[in-house]
Amino acid sequence: VGDLPSSEPLYYSDYLQLDRLLASQRLASAAGGQPVHDEMLFIIVHQAYELWFKQILWELDEVARLLAPARVAETAMLRMVARLERITEIQKLLIEQISVLETMTPLDFLEFRNFLIPASGFQSVQFRLIENRLGVRPEDRLKLAGNPYTAALSEDDRRRVEESETETSIFQLVEAWLERTPFLDFGDFHFWDIYRGAVKQLLEHDQRVVATNPNLSEPERQSQLASFTQTFALYEAVLDETKHKALVAAGERRLSHRAFQAALFINLYRDEPALQEPFRLLTLLMDIEQGFTTWRYRHALMTQRMIGRRVGTGGSAGAAYLTRSADRSRVFMDLFQLSTFMIPRSLLPPLPIEVERTMRFRFEEL
Ligand code: HEM
Repeated sequence: VGDLPSSEPLYYSDYLQLDRLLASQRLASAAGGQPVHDEMLFIIVHQAYELWFKQILWELDEVARLLAPARVAETAMLRMVARLERITEIQKLLIEQISVLETMTPLDFLEFRNFLIPASGFQSVQFRLIENRLGVRPEDRLKLAGNPYTAALSEDDRRRVEESETETSIFQLVEAWLERTPFLDFGDFHFWDIYRGAVKQLLEHDQRVVATNPNLSEPERQSQLASFTQTFALYEAVLDETKHKALVAAGERRLSHRAFQAALFINLYRDEPALQEPFRLLTLLMDIEQGFTTWRYRHALMTQRMIGRRVGTGGSAGAAYLTRSADRSRVFMDLFQLSTFMIPRSLLPPLPIEVERTMRFRFEEL
């Protein structure tokens, strides 16, 4: 048995560099001669966020590394899922932390807010790196007073953020990984034809329920029956690449057709052993998007409570800007749309035995 690697005995505060960390809370209000009590909380809460942002980036970087190879190994899948799960736990803290800051009242905030202008969380480089790493695109960004979102950054920070726009995002990596899903081509077995039949059966059943429902007035019945045409059209886009591309062009889908189909397939056959981890990965990506969107809305509500309808210290329209930004920063919207296209397990076509076999764990007998 070899020796475990070791080093000189460490001292707690040296290891954590507490001398630097704990000397990094400089109150802007102190410069005016009157340190405001609550500014310490304001600084510490922001610093705690930045530390967690650093950890999230650390995890996302590893997820990106693990997703990059042409063939993602099973162990890599497990590791990726563990990293993403950790991010979702951190996000719960990020959302909870807002109520700590809300123990500061708007009146307390007014005592030092003037010292902050034009600084703002809007200039958080790490937050922008997280967004870009996940896959927020330059064209999704809102302009602030006609300027790009990077305009308020120092030159070095701007360069870092702009560079991150050109790196492959988690969205792109997930899309490429979905496109490589091997189970979509089965030789003679045409899954999507069978799926079309199952959907038709499902919708015709729903149509019959509407047509024979005695509680509906005639105009209500006609309007509900008409909506089936739209639903059919949406399903057609799942099956037809050209129609899917039209939805992408209209900004209603982002994933490629093949990736969208693969994500749907993984959701439909999530009970197959080989699809359980991929399903977990897709679910966690939705959880993470939900976590950030929830944080954004929560932050916007806090902003409303703190500054009402005033503009932000960074110069935006304040809370109104933040809610719009929350909607524009969705990356994995396609995954949230998938449930429209789910069909009950009882209608799902059984997979051919060769496909089943490749999707079982190796030690299991068929
Ligand atoms: C009193 C507490 C806070 C208020 C009133 C507030 C207000 C605002 C406002 C008005 C904006 C829009 C940009 C601007 O005009 O400045 C903004 C952006 C932002 N804030 Fe806060 N904020 C607060 C606390 C925090 C905290 C604790 C964080 C954690 C890091 C944070 C992170 C951000 C981020 C990342 C943005 C950019 C969001 C985007 O562009 O979508 N804020 N904040």
